[in-house]
Order: sequence, then C-alpha cells, then structure tokens
Amino acid sequence: MLATVDGRELYQVCTEVHQQFFTSEGFGSWFSEGYSTYKSQRKPIQDFNNLAGAIAGSKVLDFGSGRGHLAALIARAGFDCYTTDVMDYRGPEAGALPFRQMASPIDVPYADDMFDSAIVKTVLHHVDEPDLIPLLINLRRVARRLIIEEDTYAVPAASLGAAAGQIELAELNKLTASEQFQTLILIDFFGNSVAQGLVDMNFGFQFKRISEWHSLFDSLGFRIVDTEIAGFRPGNIHKCCQVRFVVDRKE
Ligand SMILES: C[S@@+](CC[C@H](N)C(=O)[O-])C[C@H]1O[C@@H](n2cnc3c(N)ncnc32)[C@H](O)[C@@H]1O
Repeated sequence: MLATVDGRELYQVCTEVHQQFFTSEGFGSWFSEGYSTYKSQRKPIQDFNNLAGAIAGSKVLDFGSGRGHLAALIARAGFDCYTTDVMDYRGPEAGALPFRQMASPIDVPYADDMFDSAIVKTVLHHVDEPDLIPLLINLRRVARRLIIEEDTYAVPAASLGAAAGQIELAELNKLTASEQFQTLILIDFFGNSVAQGLVDMNFGFQFKRISEWHSLFDSLGFRIVDTEIAGFRPGNIHKCCQVRFVVDRKE
C-alpha cells in the first residue's frame, strides 16, 4: 500500500488487501468473522446506547445510515425510523426500513420538518468541505434536532471531563495536533477501505476540533444542547477520540 503511486493504484491495492486478509475466503477469515459480528451486533448496540437517550420525539432519520444496523435497532426500540445514504450497502435487517438514496452529497431526500431527530453518526467528516454547510442546512430543514457523533482531535485537557482519566487520551495528547489529525485519516481510511472493503466511500477527512464544530453549528442557527466528550469508547475496534453533539434548530 505504501508503494502505490496514485489514488487509483491505492484503491486497487486496498481491494486486494481487503480480499486477502479481511474476507471469509482469505487468510483473515478468523478476523473477518469476528469483525462482521462486531459490526452487525456488538457495535450497533453500543451505538444505540450512546445515542438513544438524546433522541427527541418519535420520528427519526438515520442520516448516512450505511449498513443500517443502528437504524434497525432504533426501529426495534419503537421509533419510526427512516434511512438515507449516498451509497446503498444496506444489510438485510435494514431492508424493511424506508430508504431513499441521496441524489447528491448535499441532498437530504425527505420533506421539510419531517423528523423530530436526525442521527448523523460519523458521517460529517466524510463530506467534502464545500458540501458541509449546504448539507447541514438541509439537515436543519428536515429535523428539529441533530445528534451528531464525530471523531475529533486536539481536545483541550481542561474540557475532557469524565474522559480525563483515559490512558489512550493521555497518549494521544502527547502527539501534536497535526499528528493527531493524521492518525484520524489513517484509521478512517483503513477502517473503511481496507477492513470493510468500502473503497468507493467518499473520504472528505473533514475532522474538526470541538471548538470548530461549535462555531459552525452556531453560525448555522443551531442551539448546542449538549457536548459529550466520550474519548476512546471501551470496546471500539477503531480507536479514536469521539465527541457527541446534540444541537437543536433555533425556531
Ligand atoms: C463511516 S460511515 C458511517 C455509517 C453509519 N452512520 C455508521 O455509523 O455505521 C459514513 C457514511 O456516510 C455516508 N454519507 C452520507 N452523505 C455523505 C456525503 N455527503 N459524503 C460522504 N459520505 C456520505 C457514507 O456513504 C457512509 O455510509
């Protein structure tokens, strides 16, 4: 992978590495089995537990729903759950939920005010920079509340709160901000392209500091209801520092 000369070759090699080491047919069948159980069962339960308490109302959009494991759990918990994504790689358990494929990276293909809450879990850093504000404006159009989870970096020690004792955070904070940013790029690319084989996914690498997200939400007319610095969540395979924002549209 390191020897590739351009993006095209890198994607080819990622596909080969994925097939050889991360699929049930390759050398890595032991990993692949455990990893797919993690992605389809353990991780969605953790995600649901991390997000469900912030859901307001009953009509929920899982924006950038991916395989749809989380959306299936949201629906099973009694919410009226809809899904959308630029790509369609839904798993069978999400097949019965309403899904509309986005026509463009900023399209949110549902009606104004349709949702009480929209979950936007580890999606925004995949959006290209020029698309981010138009997309957030569209999300604000369809939902009164956004529950956003992002991978972040350079969190000031003073704001760590409950995460302050985490050994991983202490180690991460020994790196410069730019090095922390680069680790996020590596983990994001590896986790999606190599481990999951999703080479067609858009990688915007739009990782932001918490203060940058706050300014953006504020400038777009959102009220920040909660910022939870979760840090390194126990049990996550892809290790990065996470933050959950709950923002409401100012009426
Ligand atoms: C890292 S995956 C997260 C999937 C799911 N939310 C989860 O947590 O399992 C990012 C998802 O955002 C989707 N997505 C939605 N809108 C996007 C956009 N404008 N640009 C890039 N990716 C977008 C991707 O297709 C992908 O399914």
